[in-house]
Amino acid sequence: MEQFDSVIKDVIHLVRFGAEGRSRDVKALARKMAQQYRKTVPELSAALASIVVSEGSLRSAKRPLPVDADSRLALARIVDAALAEKPVLPATLEQQLRQLVAEHLDSSALKLAGLSPSKSALLIGPPGVGKTMAAQWIARELRRPLVVLDLSSSISSFLGKTGQNVRQLFDFCKEFDCILLLDEVDAIAKKRADETDLGELKRLVNVLLQELDEWPEGSLVLAATNHPDILDPAIWRRFDLTFNLPLPGLAERTEVLRRMPCLTSESMLLMLADISDGMNHAEIVSRVNAGRRSAVMNKSDEQEGVIEAFAERLRLLPMARRHDISEKLISSGVSQRRASELTGTSRNTLRKHAKKEVSA
Ligand SMILES: Nc1ncnc2c1ncn2[C@@H]1O[C@H](COP(=O)(O)OP(=O)(O)OP(=O)(O)O)[C@@H](O)[C@H]1O
Ligand SMILES: [Mg+2]
Repeated sequence: MEQFDSVIKDVIHLVRFGAEGRSRDVKALARKMAQQYRKTVPELSAALASIVVSEGSLRSAKRPLPVDADSRLALARIVDAALAEKPVLPATLEQQLRQLVAEHLDSSALKLAGLSPSKSALLIGPPGVGKTMAAQWIARELRRPLVVLDLSSSISSFLGKTGQNVRQLFDFCKEFDCILLLDEVDAIAKKRADETDLGELKRLVNVLLQELDEWPEGSLVLAATNHPDILDPAIWRRFDLTFNLPLPGLAERTEVLRRMPCLTSESMLLMLADISDGMNHAEIVSRVNAGRRSAVMNKSDEQEGVIEAFAERLRLLPMARRHDISEKLISSGVSQRRASELTGTSRNTLRKHAKKEVSA
C-alpha cells in the first residue's frame, strides 16, 4: 500500500513537471523511478527506463536510426539495457552466456592466442523463456545499447526492399558501438527450399548471409527464434554460438517465484513451483502479477491473490495433496473458508482433518 502511495506521488510530480515544461526534471525523476520501482513495479520501471535512456543512447549514435524508404518508420529501436534483469537459466547455460560476455570484456588472452571474441550467437527456445531478456542482459553486462530490428517496419511485401532495410541496419550498427538483436530472425531467414517466392527469398537470405560474414570482429550480433526448424541451415551455420533456452525446470521455477516480492511463505512458494510445471517463465510471472493486481485492487492479501491465480492448476491435484495444501494455508493464517475455496476441498472435510490433527 505504501508503495502504491509513493507511485501516485511520483506520478503527480511527473505530470506537474511536464505541465510546467521542466523536461530536465521530468527525465531526472523518471530515471529515479525506473531505479526505485525495478523490483516492485517492474512494468513501470522498464517502460520508464526504455523511454528515458533510449533517448540518451540515440544521441551518442553518429547518425540517426535508418528508416524504411517508403514509410519513413525507423527500422530498429534502441533499448537501453542498463536496468535489464538477469534471466533465470540452468547453471550451465548461464555459464555459457557469462563466457560470451567475458570474451568481449577481456579479449586480450584470446588475441594472444590468435583468436577473437565470438561475434554472433543464436538464442533458440519456446516462447517466454527469456531469449529477449538474455539479449538485454548481455547488452547490460557489456554496457552497450541494444539495437533491436523492428520487423513491422523492416519487412516489406517486396522482399527486395526488406533486404535493403536489413543492409541499412547492419551498416548503422557497424558504426555505432552497440549490440544488434535480430529478434524473431526466422521472419527474415526462412529456408530457401520453400517453393513460394523462391528467387526473392533466396536474395534476402543471401543478404543476411553476406552481412553476417562481413560483420566486424569485436562486434556482437544476437538473433532469437522460436522456430529453429524453419531457419535456413546456412544462416544457422553462420552463428558462432547457439544457446538453447529450455522451459524452466523445478529449480528455475522456484527461483523465478523467489524473485516475486509477495511470496513470503516458503511452503507456498515451493507448492506454486511444483504446480507450475510445464508453464514458461513469462506465464508464471504474468500469472503472479495478475494475482497480485487483483489482491491490491480488492485490498486483500497478495500471497493469497497469487495462489488464487493458480487455483485452476491447484484443483487438478489429487485430493490428498489439496488437503495437505489447505492445512498449510490455514496454518499460515488463511481462514478455513478461504482455504477450501482456493483448493476446491469441502469445508467439512477440512474441519474433520483439523479435528483429527488436534486429537492426535
Ligand atoms: N528465464 C527467465 N527468467 C526470468 N524471467 C523470465 C525468463 N524468461 C522470461 N521471463 C519473463 O517473461 C518476460 C518475457 O520474456 P522474453 O520476452 O525474454 O521471452 P522470449 O523467450 O523472448 O519470448 P518470445 O519467444 O515470445 O519472444 C520477461 O520480461 C520476464 O518477465
Ligand atoms: Mg522474445
